[in-house]
Amino acid sequence: MTKKIAVLVGSLRKESLTRKYAQAIAAVLPPSLQCEFVELGDLPLYNQDLDDAGTPPAAWTAFRDALRSADAVLFVTPEYNRSIPGALKNAIDVGSRPWGHSIWDRKPSAVVSQSPGAIGGFGANHHVRQTMVALNSPVMAGPEMYIGGSAGFLAEDGTVNNEQTRTLLTTFGAAFEQWVEANARQG
Ligand code: FNR
Repeated sequence: MTKKIAVLVGSLRKESLTRKYAQAIAAVLPPSLQCEFVELGDLPLYNQDLDDAGTPPAAWTAFRDALRSADAVLFVTPEYNRSIPGALKNAIDVGSRPWGHSIWDRKPSAVVSQSPGAIGGFGANHHVRQTMVALNSPVMAGPEMYIGGSAGFLAEDGTVNNEQTRTLLTTFGAAFEQWVEANARQG
């Protein structure tokens, strides 16, 4: 059966490498996984007062609805100062509340990090993992996906021009399909 994958991109930048890799991954995922990019750049910063008052911003509600209807989540993120970009952490926080209504609970996920640097966004990758485990999301353990030296593998049109990287992304996609199937949330 077809599964809906919400793709969250951790960079807001127009020419984002992260978004290009997210698009490249979406293009090689097995056909049973249908990607929908859910934007997080316009989410107001999380403030519990607004949930407590029953007046959440419309953007929070739209984001929560989009994620609630997804079968799984794919995080594709850069690393900011060895951690998660604030915009992505804010989106995770927005989705985690109100208390008892987290949209992450038992939602399978996987994490890809990329960096032009050598370490491939390792710190960001594991901070997403740490947070999502705390939110009871089954986070795919492997294959791990740290794309280092990322600027070197993209062609002018944004496609991946390196055979080895394309193979890695395809392998990752096949594993994610199995992970989503095995961890599909019941009810
Ligand atoms: C960075 N960058 C960066 N890279 C890295 O490998 N480790 C890091 O800790 C950081 N820290 C960092 C902080 C901030 C505030 C910025 C703006 C950038 C560099 C980063 O990996 C690079 O700019 C990527 O191209 C960002 O991804 P996008 O925007 O191209 O998707």
